[in-house]
Amino acid sequence: MTTPATPPYPAGDPALAALVFDNIDRGVIALDREGRITLFNPAAESYLDRAARHILGRHYTELFVGQEPLLYLVNAALRDGRSITDDESIFLPRPKAPPLPVSVYAAPIFSKRGDQDGAVLIIRDLSRVRELEDTLRRADQLAMLATLAAGLAHEIKNPLGGIKGAAQLLTLELQPDSPLREYTRVMIKETERINGIIEELMDLGKPRPAIMGEVSIGRILDDIVLLQREAARGQNIDFALSLDPSIPPVHGDESLLTRLFLNLVKNAREAVDRDGRVEIECKISAEYHMTTPGHRPSPLVVVRIRDTGCGIPPDELERIFTPYYTTKSRGSGLGLAICQKIVEDHRGFLKVASIPGEGTEFSVWLPLR
Ligand SMILES: Nc1ncnc2c1ncn2[C@@H]1O[C@H](COP(=O)(O)OP(=O)(O)O)[C@@H](O)[C@H]1O
Ligand SMILES: [Mg+2]
Repeated sequence: MTTPATPPYPAGDPALAALVFDNIDRGVIALDREGRITLFNPAAESYLDRAARHILGRHYTELFVGQEPLLYLVNAALRDGRSITDDESIFLPRPKAPPLPVSVYAAPIFSKRGDQDGAVLIIRDLSRVRELEDTLRRADQLAMLATLAAGLAHEIKNPLGGIKGAAQLLTLELQPDSPLREYTRVMIKETERINGIIEELMDLGKPRPAIMGEVSIGRILDDIVLLQREAARGQNIDFALSLDPSIPPVHGDESLLTRLFLNLVKNAREAVDRDGRVEIECKISAEYHMTTPGHRPSPLVVVRIRDTGCGIPPDELERIFTPYYTTKSRGSGLGLAICQKIVEDHRGFLKVASIPGEGTEFSVWLPLR
């Protein structure tokens, strides 16, 4: 039997409430009757990127200047005494990052005597929720398109084989020095290219069952960098690989994981026009853990692929995972759709961040067991 430890604060001690505000991952902001800020907890500091010491005592309209949905919410609580939540339209601007999607609950505060004494706002970070929603939407879209594509690919494959065969026969009919041979050569080469695309498509539709084993991500990345250095001979690209040697093998399908990282590194190389840098880093993630009910949280390995290429405009970021979306004259637009699928099959997740004109970073998180 262990004796219960004495609680550091007696139940009901106001210091305990202060400690709770300091430690919860919800932004809490309290306003007095006039709308001046009287409480601004550390989570609120981080979401709004403002220090409490600069904010306390100021009027909420100064803090939320220009943010109509938020001002509306505070007014409803403070002036009309209503409790109200907005999960849709509030994005907190941040100086060094994209706006943060949040859910805000605003409610009046009543004194013990029953008159309204101000308002409280509770802010919840929705960025992770939004990311998961995006992933699900992409997965749905992909599943539907993949079925359609596999069917279509199957239909195209046979006539294509016929065209290639006919072109080969035609070559045999031509004199070895005939200038027409150049045309048949192109015909054969291009049918092979279509065939390659179709095979990728069919893979997407009915992926072979994954063959799971212990895979060294480091070795895969080593090989890819070797090959891509070779492929980038006409360009002046500096490939940098940084591997944490302590990373244990992951449980996965080696050829699928190779394909995943190859697609990403290839995209990075293709994004760099002539001169630039591609950095690949693999380490244990400090930000996320995988939690499965009934199990201890397990660490994730993160692979980041950063390039100094052309970047992706914000309005295109949504579309790059869509099958067939490509901005390249000879692209299939399937690379990232396939990456997305492989990452999901490994119970991981994929993120992208990009600044047009500066570069792009793809990050892949995979669970370690
Ligand atoms: N590292 C990157 N930098 C800039 N744009 C990228 C990068 N990776 C992908 N993209 C964009 O996403 C599109 C889709 O990529 P992907 O699915 O691999 O197809 P593909 O490479 O055949 O075009 C590309 O055409 C490109 O516009
Ligand atoms: Mg690609």
